[in-house]
Amino acid sequence: MTQYNESTNEANCLLRHVCKLAGSPEQCTRNCQAWIGLHGASGAGGRISAANVPKGYRNLTLKDSPARESQSKIYATFDKYAETFERQFNPERSEAAERIKSFYLWSAQPGTGKTTSASALINEYIIAHYVGALKLGLTPQQRPAYFLSVNGLHQAHKTAYSPGAQETKDKYGETVTREVERSKQAPFLVMDDVGVRSKVSDSFIGVLYDIIDSRTTDDLPTIYTSNKPLHGAEETPSGLYDLFYDEDPEGKIVDRMRDQCAVVEFGGTSKRGRR
Ligand SMILES: Nc1ncnc2c1ncn2[C@@H]1O[C@H](COP(=O)(O)OP(=O)(O)OP(=O)(O)O)[C@@H](O)[C@H]1O
Ligand SMILES: [Mg+2]
Repeated sequence: MTQYNESTNEANCLLRHVCKLAGSPEQCTRNCQAWIGLHGASGAGGRISAANVPKGYRNLTLKDSPARESQSKIYATFDKYAETFERQFNPERSEAAERIKSFYLWSAQPGTGKTTSASALINEYIIAHYVGALKLGLTPQQRPAYFLSVNGLHQAHKTAYSPGAQETKDKYGETVTREVERSKQAPFLVMDDVGVRSKVSDSFIGVLYDIIDSRTTDDLPTIYTSNKPLHGAEETPSGLYDLFYDEDPEGKIVDRMRDQCAVVEFGGTSKRGRR
């Protein structure tokens, strides 16, 4: 376990592994401009909060992810993958080999570290963006990446389109529109729990298709997490539990998702509560 200088801001700041000043008593404080840019002066703002990373996962990097040890092979792949994040500054990213790829992280078992790992990856992307932009003399974007909770979007969508008070429906309708726009535009996106566990309406499937189709058309990378396997239309689906097997039998969504996307199955049993 890495030891941080506890009298400084090092342990709280995502830049701890890349910043030369990390742990320095005078400079590594809550007044540091880089800390404020990434985490906000209070620690609950900045680009990490704008990216909507869930609260318990905001301080994770690949190096200190709790899932690293038991998923060591997968993390070796992620370490290599994170090195490709500097391609975001490469204007000639149009060649497939030069693109940042997508990942589909799944396990039938809950609590194997999928959301943890997706969060570590989005944080690494934001770090690469922030540091890379400053090195190039550019202002880092406010929202270079976004974390979309598909369950959250599903709930908002249901409320917006179910009978109820108009005011409430309008409010949730606006949430859906905002989330969809952010998800389409984010240079890097996490779609957490894409195989939502309750029954999905055709109209919500249309929303997911809209996001995924728009991103693949624009060659934008996405990390999906799911409890279901991803099978293409050309393969024999293993059945009822495959992603969108019921909702999208032609496999239109799944085929888009598989574009430039590596599938990683998380093994093991639930580690929930092990923190
Ligand atoms: N491989 C692991 N080793 C140690 N702790 C882990 C591991 N995987 C997950 N955890 C811990 O278990 C909890 C749940 O992890 P996480 O949310 O990433 O699971 P998940 O795979 O996304 O689960 P779900 O299928 O329910 O979405 C977290 O507190 C996390 O720190
Ligand atoms: Mg999860």
